[in-house]
This record gives sequence, C-alpha cells and structure tokens, in this order.
Amino acid sequence: LHLNDVKFFSRHLRARRHNSHKGSYGNVAVIGGARGMSGAPVLAARAALNSGAGRVYALFADEALASDPGQPELMCRSAGEFDLSMATLVVGPGLGDARHAHDLLAKAINCGSALLADADALNLLAVDPALQNALAHRPAAVVLTPHPLEAARLLGTTIAAVQADRLAAARTLAARLHAIVILKGSGTVIAAPGGDAVINTTGNPALATAGTGDVLAGLCGALLAQGWPQWEAALAAVWLHGMAADVLVTEGLGPIGLTATELIPAIRTALNRM
Ligand code: APR
Ligand code: MG
Repeated sequence: LHLNDVKFFSRHLRARRHNSHKGSYGNVAVIGGARGMSGAPVLAARAALNSGAGRVYALFADEALASDPGQPELMCRSAGEFDLSMATLVVGPGLGDARHAHDLLAKAINCGSALLADADALNLLAVDPALQNALAHRPAAVVLTPHPLEAARLLGTTIAAVQADRLAAARTLAARLHAIVILKGSGTVIAAPGGDAVINTTGNPALATAGTGDVLAGLCGALLAQGWPQWEAALAAVWLHGMAADVLVTEGLGPIGLTATELIPAIRTALNRM
C-alpha cells in the first residue's frame, strides 16, 4: 500500500449531503480525565469535533472535571452517567489507573460500540489478562494506539525490543488482541490481525510534544464514527496526522514548538483538501 496515494483514502470520504444533519456524522465519546489530566481527553474530543464527528462528548472519570473546557461545542459529562452504547468510544486519554478507571474501561470493552483504546486504557489492559481476553473476543471494531512503552507493557517486553522490530511488535499485538494496532513513533506501523502491516511516511519530530497522541486518537475515532472501515480509518488518521504536521513545518510553526492544539485545525484543512 502506498500511503501517499490520497485516492486510497478519499473514496471513503463521503461528501456531505445537503439534506444531512449532525446525526449523519456519528457520535464520539472520549473517556478519560482523571484528576490532573483533563487536557488529554479535551484534546482528543476537540480533534474529533474538527475531524467531522456530528456530536462529541468528553467524559471525565473525575466528575469534578466535567465542566466547560473552553469549547462549548463539547458535551462534558461524568463518565459514570453516560450510556456508552450511544457513541464510538475513544477510551484512555488521561484516564489514570484507579479502580474507577478500570471499571470504565471494562464497561467500554463490554458494550457493543466501536472502540479505540489509547494511553492509560492500554496500561490498564497490560496488567489485566481478563480484560485482554474480553477485548480480543468483542464483535465490534477495536483500534489500539500504543506508543513504544505502552506496546512494550502489553507485550511484556522492553522498549528496546519493540523498537528493534517494530513491524513484528505491531503484528504480534494485532494478532494477540484481535485489533488494528497503530504502533506510534517515527515511522508509525499500522497492523491488522491477519498480518497486513503498513509503515506510514508522513509526520516529523514536530509531533514529539505532549498531546499529539491524544489528537490522533480523536481523529481516528471521528473517522470510525463517520462510518469508515476500521483499517482505512487507522491508515487515514495516521497519514493525515503526519501530513498536517508536515504542512505546519513548511509554514514555520515547527519542528520547534508546535503544539497539539495547533495540529487540530491543520488536520481539518488536510481533511477538507482531500
Ligand atoms: N516523528 C514522527 N512522529 C512522531 C515523532 C517523530 N519523531 N515523535 C512523536 N510522533 C508522533 C507519534 O507517532 C504519535 O502519533 O506523535 C504522537 C505522540 O503520541 P504519544 O506518544 O501518545 O504522546 P502524547 O500525546 O503526549 O501522550 C499523552 O498519554 O500515551 C500517554 O504516556 C503518554 O502521558 C502521555 C499521554
Ligand atoms: Mg499518548
């Protein structure tokens, strides 16, 4: 597969019909936000909003955080009070490792919605074989987005071992957990349970800054919510995320000092240009 071929993705990008409405573009619910980590789910939720999802919910593990994050379009709720079957779920950004976080992840895995697990959701999975088993056997789409440390924890190995053969690490995780795996970092690998794997060519070290992974999770969740098949959603999200960073570097906003917040409107532009 040539990830430079925009045509490969653009056939999945449905034109916005005149008689469509917000219900036509899917719901995304980001589940995260333990105390001290409200930024991660808000970044993911903003990315989902600017990537075309019809409605976006930011669900906080700590209900004290469920207040307006300066983005009135987001519906901020306490995670415990939300019907998880209503949306495509992005679980993990800033979720923390408390018992409550574990219970929210279990609920997300055991409901029928399409699911993307990132960050702390992956760390919680790594220490709970029963949750891994439930994940591997769920019928609906699953995408996992580990960075090398998260992948190493899931595989029970070291970062060095993951980085020594990134293709093998991504393929092993995809097969074991029956998920599309996005192994992040320079040369992000996208692997499917059947063994297919692709190395992305877009992106640059401007992305080496806190929160860019949360943005990728929200973007991919929005494509899933809009009906993209999970493999194509994963490929397109990684490609667009890197492409947006590449464009920002040509405009002088990086590689030094680009922020995850600035990446979000650049992703919107890249999507609209597709
Ligand atoms: N070249 C290309 N892409 C890069 C590079 C690089 N040199 N460095 C980073 N990236 C990309 C990765 O591929 C990924 O898409 O930037 C993103 C970084 O994602 P994360 O590693 O998840 O970083 P972050 O968003 O800060 O994670 C937030 O969640 O995963 C936890 O421990 C993590 O607390 C942190 C939080
Ligand atoms: Mg991350």
